[in-house]
Amino acid sequence: MGFPETRPRRLRRTAALRRLVTETSLEPRQLVLPMFVREGASEHTPISSMPGVVQHTRDSLRRAAVEAAELGLGGVMLFGIPTTKDARGSGGVDPGGILNVAIADVVGEVGDAIAVMGDLCLDEFTNHGHCGVLGEDGSVDNDATLAVYAEMAQAQAAAGVHVVGPSGMMDGQVGAIRTGLDAGGHQDVAILAYSAKYASAFYGPFREAVDSSLQGDRRTYQQDPGNGVEGVREALLDLSEGADIVMVKPALAYLDVLRAVRESVDVPVAAYNVSGEYAMVEAAAARGWINREAAILESLVSIRRAGADIVLTYWAAEAAQLLRSS
Ligand code: PBG
Repeated sequence: MGFPETRPRRLRRTAALRRLVTETSLEPRQLVLPMFVREGASEHTPISSMPGVVQHTRDSLRRAAVEAAELGLGGVMLFGIPTTKDARGSGGVDPGGILNVAIADVVGEVGDAIAVMGDLCLDEFTNHGHCGVLGEDGSVDNDATLAVYAEMAQAQAAAGVHVVGPSGMMDGQVGAIRTGLDAGGHQDVAILAYSAKYASAFYGPFREAVDSSLQGDRRTYQQDPGNGVEGVREALLDLSEGADIVMVKPALAYLDVLRAVRESVDVPVAAYNVSGEYAMVEAAAARGWINREAAILESLVSIRRAGADIVLTYWAAEAAQLLRSS
């Protein structure tokens, strides 16, 4: 052995010593629970590729939001599944559309006790499944989409949302949404920008969760998985347009991007532990191949260690319970 001072195991000897020197905390307030609500549903529907996650009814969503608040979670992120979809994604803009009524339901139930966030994107509402409106040549029309996003932000704000989460990766979306919100008198509504969002296979189960009609892929607007520097650039652009929180998504395969973004910005950074990351652990655990609870907590603390202040995760409620009992 070398010098006496080179014995890191001294501080690992007892649970109390390990707790004393742990660098990274994981607390319920840092976790945001994404939830799905289905228009016209009278019973909640399980999502087969995401065991334990459901498409809520308006009622079951309200109850789940109360539970989230009681557990001390940081927030909920809401996604709507409309009964009818069209080319323009009208259901996202309509004040009577499922996401907007669900936001009002949840805010009516939990008030300001928890941050209520709305996904701001058209893919759940369009019949072609893309995140924006299409031009005549069939490609996603960036600037025409910005106008719809601004309207959608106003509808969510009118419903009482605290934070909007633009996830469509259109250039200029944060600026357009900020301008739209301010013009509508909603200066207080914050923007959590999905800034570095990659065209990822790990969104697979989510497509089932929202009954996505997408054919093809999103590679003309979401980022190439090989690009890390570009993730930082996207976050800085969103900041310059007025983002209050920036996000990296997915989380586990992009921890380097998360760290780089954390070191480049001076606003809170979020990371989205996405559906495929959830499904992989659940599937392995169901076969007895992995210790489920340990893998959940290790995943979440690792995302925090890489630099996330906030973690969006389908395990948020359960993780909060595990943290309480540990
Ligand atoms: C787009 C959106 C997606 C996810 C969140 N917002 C899907 C996509 O970009 O294809 C994926 C989340 C997950 O996989 O858990 N509205």
